[in-house]
Amino acid sequence: MTEDKSHQQDSSTESLKVEARRARVIAVANQKGGVGKTTTAINLATAMALAGRRVLLIDVDPQGNLSSGVGRKNAKAEGGTIYHALTADVEDPSIFILRTEVEGLDLIPADQDLTGAEIEMVTLPERERRLQRVIEPLRSLYDFVVLDCPPSLGLLTLNGLVAADAVLIPLHCEYFALEGLADLVGTMRRVRSALNPALDIEGVLLTMYDERTNLGQQVARDVRAFFKEKVFQTVIPRNIKLGEAPSHGIPAVLYDAKSRGAEAYVALANEVLGRTAV
Ligand SMILES: Nc1ncnc2c1ncn2[C@@H]1O[C@H](COP(=O)(O)OP(=O)(O)OP(=O)(O)O)[C@@H](O)[C@H]1O
Ligand SMILES: [Mg+2]
Repeated sequence: MTEDKSHQQDSSTESLKVEARRARVIAVANQKGGVGKTTTAINLATAMALAGRRVLLIDVDPQGNLSSGVGRKNAKAEGGTIYHALTADVEDPSIFILRTEVEGLDLIPADQDLTGAEIEMVTLPERERRLQRVIEPLRSLYDFVVLDCPPSLGLLTLNGLVAADAVLIPLHCEYFALEGLADLVGTMRRVRSALNPALDIEGVLLTMYDERTNLGQQVARDVRAFFKEKVFQTVIPRNIKLGEAPSHGIPAVLYDAKSRGAEAYVALANEVLGRTAV
């Protein structure tokens, strides 16, 4: 009798704890290709999981680089991939979740099927809120949900911006870094006015920085002058280990934890955790 009672108390405290959790959803977005979106999503998420947070990565890019980067190339969960999650009406989206090798880090994978979703979603009800509908019931299971958006401002990225609390914008430190950013900022403004008024900028992240070039330094100065305190203190250097890790299907922060690239992403995770105090 007594034992039963104590057991009941334990499980009810546990469920209270679970209900109190509400993930912060961060969309990693920039319509420019090859600026480090996927590398940032993988390593930020992994570093936060290693710091003890529960993190869900969602691959929102038909290229599937995020999925292969965590060793889940062409993998499907019980319910399929993010393509099925976006196009079907499913009550419990947890059937799309896969575990990864990293404790606390889960994944909703993508493959090239997702290319079709952008077209199919056009005729579906609430086409801009499909991803939000997938994520909302999962918020109570995680501290962070990190979305890897494709290099375009199409319906998939739009779904990412509508589902997110904040956008993390990686900027490649090169001459045209700021080019096209006005389009992203304009899209964010439209999303705020019509679909997601609370959408914030998580931060602007300087990536592939090469301190040896004047150009890198100049771009970094210009970006800080423009975005001010929205720019993360952490700068991601150009680092060969960040380029190598994806071919092994292992996040760089694990593949070579001592590399400068890995250390920079751990510092970024600490900055994000420090800002949100979760
Ligand atoms: N800091 C870095 N140093 C060296 N190589 C990097 C760095 N960041 C990313 N890379 C490499 O550069 C390439 C592009 O990076 P990534 O795939 O993260 O960009 P992306 O913005 O997601 O690209 P896409 O727009 O195609 O989705 C990849 O091969 C990646 O491994
Ligand atoms: Mg990518």
